[in-house]
Amino acid sequence: MKKLAGKVVIITGAGMGLGLATAIEAAKEGASLMLVDYNGEKLAEAIEAIKKVATEVKVISFVADVSDESKVKEYVAKTLEAFGTIHGFYNNAGIEGRQAPLDSYDLDVFKKVIDINLMGVYYGLRYILPIMQKNNYGRVVNVASVGGIRGVMNQTPYVASKHAVSGITKNVALEYGRYGITANAIAPGAILTPMVAEAFRQINPNDPKVAETEYAKANPTKRLGIPEEVAKVVVFLLSDDASYVSGQTIAIDGGQSEVYGNV
Ligand SMILES: NC(=O)c1ccc[n+]([C@@H]2O[C@H](COP(=O)([O-])OP(=O)(O)OC[C@H]3O[C@@H](n4cnc5c(N)ncnc54)[C@H](O)[C@@H]3O)[C@@H](O)[C@H]2O)c1
Repeated sequence: MKKLAGKVVIITGAGMGLGLATAIEAAKEGASLMLVDYNGEKLAEAIEAIKKVATEVKVISFVADVSDESKVKEYVAKTLEAFGTIHGFYNNAGIEGRQAPLDSYDLDVFKKVIDINLMGVYYGLRYILPIMQKNNYGRVVNVASVGGIRGVMNQTPYVASKHAVSGITKNVALEYGRYGITANAIAPGAILTPMVAEAFRQINPNDPKVAETEYAKANPTKRLGIPEEVAKVVVFLLSDDASYVSGQTIAIDGGQSEVYGNV
C-alpha cells in the first residue's frame, strides 16, 4: 500500500528544490497534489517532472505568492473545488534573503523574509487548519531550518523567521492535537538546492564550489544533503505512520546541529 494513497496534499514552493522533491515523492506514494509557487514556469516544469514518474497522479497547480493572504485563500479554495478536502499540508515556501550583519541588514529585505517565511506559513495554517479540524484529521509539515534551532552568521531575519516557524508548529500541535491533527517542523541543514547554491555564490562569488566544500567539511558526513533525503522524511511525517509524532522540529542535517564546532 502506498504511504499517501487517497490523501490530498498541498505543497507550497513546489516549483523547485525541496518542494519539488517532496512533490515527486508524494506523487510516487499515491497523493493527489495541489502545487503552489509564485513562479508559474517552474510550476509547469514541476508538473511535467511529476507526470513522468507517477503517471496516474492527480496534480493541479496555482500561481500564488504565499505572503499574499488573498492568494492563500484562493489556493485553499481551488484545492477544495478540485479534490473536496485537504489531508496534508507541506508549508515549504521560503527565501533566505541576503547575507549581511544585523545592524546593516537592508530593512526591505528583512521585512520580505518575515512576510514570506513567517506570515506565508501562518496564512496557510489559518485557512487550512479549520478544514482539517472539521475532518478530524490532518498532517502539517512546516519548514524551519537549522537556522530555526541555532544562530547563523549574517542571516538575522532568516533565523528569526525560522525560530518562529518552529514555535508556531508547537502551537499547532497544542491547539489542534485533539482534532486528529499532527504538526511538525523540519530543520534541514545544507541541502543542495537552488537556494543553497545562491548562498554559496554570495559567500564566495569567484568560486562558490570552494564555499560549498568548506561548508561540507564541518558536517559529520562530509557532504551536503540532497533534496530526496528531505522528501522521504516529509512523506513519512505526512503519512499515517507518523500518527503520534507532533510538535517536533526534526533536524535533517547529517548530525551537524548536534556536533557544531566539534568536527
Ligand atoms: N536547501 C536547504 O538547504 C534548506 C535548509 C534549511 C531550510 N530550507 C528551507 O526549505 C524551503 C525550501 O527551500 P529550497 O532550498 O528548496 O529553496 P529554493 O529557492 O530552491 O526553492 C524554493 C521554491 O519556493 C518558491 N517560493 C519562494 N518564495 C515564494 C513565495 N513567496 N510564494 C510562493 N512560492 C515561493 C520559489 O519560487 C521556489 O520554487 C525554504 O523554506 C527554506 O528556507 C532549505
